[in-house]
Amino acid sequence: MHTTTDNLSWTIFTAAPASGRFALDEIREADRGFRLLDWLEPGVGLGELAGGWDLLAAAFRRKPPVFVRHICPVQTSRPLARSPSDLSGLDQAVENLIPLLEWEQSFSVQTRLLGGGGWPYQRFDVNQRLAAKLQSAGVSLEVSRPQQVLSVVCTTTHAYVGLSAAADNLSDWAGGERRFKREAGQVSRAEFKLLEAIELFRVVFPGGGAALDLGAAPGGWTRLLRTHGMRVVAVDPAELHPSVASDPGVLHLRQSAQKYLPAGREFDIILNDMRLDALDSARLMLLAAGSLKRSGTALVTLKLPGRGTAQAAARSLDLLSQAYWITGARQLFHNRSEITVAMQRTGGR
Ligand SMILES: C[S@@+](CC[C@H](N)C(=O)[O-])C[C@H]1O[C@@H](n2cnc3c(N)ncnc32)[C@H](O)[C@@H]1O
Repeated sequence: MHTTTDNLSWTIFTAAPASGRFALDEIREADRGFRLLDWLEPGVGLGELAGGWDLLAAAFRRKPPVFVRHICPVQTSRPLARSPSDLSGLDQAVENLIPLLEWEQSFSVQTRLLGGGGWPYQRFDVNQRLAAKLQSAGVSLEVSRPQQVLSVVCTTTHAYVGLSAAADNLSDWAGGERRFKREAGQVSRAEFKLLEAIELFRVVFPGGGAALDLGAAPGGWTRLLRTHGMRVVAVDPAELHPSVASDPGVLHLRQSAQKYLPAGREFDIILNDMRLDALDSARLMLLAAGSLKRSGTALVTLKLPGRGTAQAAARSLDLLSQAYWITGARQLFHNRSEITVAMQRTGGR
């Protein structure tokens, strides 16, 4: 079992722990001959690619997955003893990958240590050591926006190492784990998922204008819209946090979205984080489409059922595509049993 293997054509894919099997289906759709070797932990799968890494990356560029949050290649693996001597084994693994480097492109190292605690070294130690190795080979380190990533995934028995273009990994963050610091004035944890969606789907704010926030309470998303200078109509039967309710740029309508729509006016941005069945929410977004400006953006979280999860996601996306051009759909790191969808009105480009 403890073997050193080079020239592998494997991948590690990551999803929410409860969505591993949906992610596996998406990988299999992209690579028909894919063979799952192991679940390294819930939601983190290791498998052998039939078509190779470049074909998987190309398939996901054509049809981005919803449940797979992150992929990285595995080109080499080394046994681990969970002792400081592991680090010299990792050095050798990286040496093996140096011929694959794009010399003109910046890189960073992303390490994950799976299987709980007890590691004699930290992620940071591995990142730093391997980054120094690649730098001494002549490539430049760029931690925040690298063009290529050296991914290192350590389990209790093995390290899996691979090099890829950052854009092919589906997320700039190791395992897609995008964490944000709590901000002063933050109203809800839901703010994190909007921040993550804005970053991942590259949502551009108009700099002013009007926004509609459906299912707004307690007001985290409304607060973020206000930080972008937007006036907000916040629709929710529930109370808003006093700091949001007292903001003169917020009009709180204490009613259901069903009652409010169709709105008799147009918005630059429509958000929907309603606690509502995915299909019902998608149907409401069809009603809302007429209230979105042609250049406008809509973002919606679809709450998925425990059974028929992937089917409910697919059917809701189908419904939404009747009125919108879907620019991104993903189960974000900050999504629980839901996915987040970014859209523009059809013909709105
Ligand atoms: C997850 S919370 C929204 C959190 C909010 N995005 C934030 O950042 O604070 C879901 C909200 O949806 C609201 N909701 C559920 N059904 C609704 C409906 N039919 N119309 C309007 N709001 C609804 C609930 O009252 C609840 O406040």
